[in-house]
Formats: sequence, C-alpha cells, structure tokens
Amino acid sequence: MIEVTNLSKHYGKVRAVDDLTFTVKPGVVTGFLGPNGAGKSTTMRMIVGLDRPTEGIALIDGKHYKDLKNPLREVGTLLDAKAVHPNRSAAKHLKWIAQSNGIPSSRVDEVLGLVGLSEVAGKSAGGFSLGMGQRLGLATALIGDPGVLILDEPVNGLDPEGIRWVRSFLKSLAAEGRSVLVSSHMLSEMALTADDLVVIGQGRLIAETTTYDFVKNSSKTHVLVRSENMQEFEAVLGEEQIVYAKETDEEGRPVLVIDDQTTDYIGALAYSTGILLQQLSERKASLEDAFITMTGDSVQYRTDKAGE
Ligand SMILES: Nc1ncnc2c1ncn2[C@@H]1O[C@H](COP(=O)(O)OP(=O)(O)OP(=O)(O)O)[C@@H](O)[C@H]1O
Ligand SMILES: [Mg+2]
Repeated sequence: MIEVTNLSKHYGKVRAVDDLTFTVKPGVVTGFLGPNGAGKSTTMRMIVGLDRPTEGIALIDGKHYKDLKNPLREVGTLLDAKAVHPNRSAAKHLKWIAQSNGIPSSRVDEVLGLVGLSEVAGKSAGGFSLGMGQRLGLATALIGDPGVLILDEPVNGLDPEGIRWVRSFLKSLAAEGRSVLVSSHMLSEMALTADDLVVIGQGRLIAETTTYDFVKNSSKTHVLVRSENMQEFEAVLGEEQIVYAKETDEEGRPVLVIDDQTTDYIGALAYSTGILLQQLSERKASLEDAFITMTGDSVQYRTDKAGE
C-alpha cells in the first residue's frame, strides 16, 4: 500500500507537485496518468526518498522509504531503465544488487526467467535493445520479491508485443497481491492495463477513480451528419441551440459533428424540418480525446497552433 498525503514539490516558482493525495491499493494495478511535465516522475521519486517533498508525506506500508529495513524487499522501482552499467552482463548487474542487499543469488536466475531474459543473461547490458533494457529494469525491480512496485513509464518505446507483455506481466504481479503503481501519459494504454487511475495535471489531482468509471464517464458519443442541404440544417441546429463543429470526412465532404445528442433525436429533427440527410451516424470520441479534454487546461508545453 502506498499513501500519498498533501504531497508538494516546488522548484522555485514551479509547482511540480501540488498538494497531491491518493492511495495505491494492493492487488490491483494503479495507473498514474498525466501529460508530460504533470509531475509523475517527481511524485514517484518522492515516494522512494530520491526527492525531498516541500510539503506532505508519502508512506509505503505505513513507513517512510528511509525507515524501511530492507527497502528492496519491500519496494521495487523502475525509474530509469538506462541506469545499468553498459559493460556489465544482465546476470552480473542483478547479482551485484542482490549481494549488496542480502538477497540470495538464486533469485537472479528466477527474475531473469520471469522477464524472459534467461538466454541473454551473460550478454552485456550495453548491447540490449530498448525492450530488453526495460525487461532488465523490471527484473531489477523484482529482485527482492517486493510487495510494492513503482514503475515510471515501463512501456515507453516498446513495440506492441513488448507492451502486451508488460501489460499482462503487471496484471499478474498485482494478482499476487502486490501494490503496483505504473505511470504513463497514454490513457488508451492505461485503460487496458490499470484497474484504478490517479490522473494528474500540473502537479494537481484531477481524478482518482476506477478505470471503468473513468472510461464510462469520459467517452462521449458524437453524432455525424451529412446533408446536401447542410446550411439549412445548420440553421435548424442553431435555432435549437445545438452545439456542433464542422469537419470533412475521408472523402473531403463536409460533415457536422454534434455533441451530446442521439441519432434518434437528430434524425427526428431532420425529418420534422423536411431536410434529407445523406448520413446520420455515431462516432465514439476516443479515450485520448477525453483525456486531452480533461487535462487540457493543465498541459504545460502546448504546441503553438499555426496562425495563432
Ligand atoms: N530537478 C528539477 N528542477 C527543476 N524543475 C524540475 C526538476 N524536476 C522536475 N522539474 C519540473 O517539474 C515538473 C514535473 O516534472 P516531472 O518530470 O515530474 O513530470 P512527468 O509527469 O514525469 O513528465 P513526463 O511525462 O514528461 O515524464 C516539470 O515542470 C519539470 O520541468
Ligand atoms: Mg516522467
């Protein structure tokens, strides 16, 4: 269990983390979600004592990280997968960590097997692909068989097969009763991996909820309309005070995109005004759209739009 209470970290005027409170329960994967610069890494570093909070506390199983007797047996971290000596083999890297933490060397082969690196155990980590490096990072996190895992963007840069593997691996680790906190800036990825979500933007908590509820509440349906009498239909929508946007479809034809309405209602409206529609369909807003809407005000580095 991880408990974060009123946690803040200020760098000068920058509030990297701002009064954050959330818990990470055992037995489930908790997704820590936020756009770039939201404060995910800073929060994770504070939980494991690598950064000192400006205010607030972060506890692991009721204790500060520095007070844990056998930290690696209690918390496994993947904060920077590249933090491996390039000339050292995967097995030697793990053996060195095991030995310096009183963990039996037999655990090295075990974790290499768990992450699928047994065959390259003797190869130097410097020659590892990104995916192999991430697997070694996970092996390192697991070396002490900890009950709590804190993983910062473990799927970053992985191919679809690697992402699928990490996803099912994390679920199986949580199913064994561990508390798993995993960060990402991709809601679509987290929606498939995490049971619970902690969503932050500019250091502040935006939502702490189950993934199921988050997805249910944030995925909107749009109604798409195309008509040869488009202007007339726009006037009708205007009279009804129905909000819409104009887009073009794949074939370059103009379509109206209407929020918060049903095809039943829009179809009836067209019928009652005698306007023939060439298209009346639904489109689910993507989860990523929902996430951007939700965190939109809190994105730190926004791309300048042309002409603005
Ligand atoms: N050592 C530091 N000194 C000054 N500012 C920092 C420092 N570390 C982080 N920040 C700032 O704190 C904010 C949060 O950064 P952080 O790396 O925690 O975000 P993040 O959510 O992990 O982002 P990303 O998705 O890009 O990894 C950013 O504005 C960042 O510039
Ligand atoms: Mg980060």
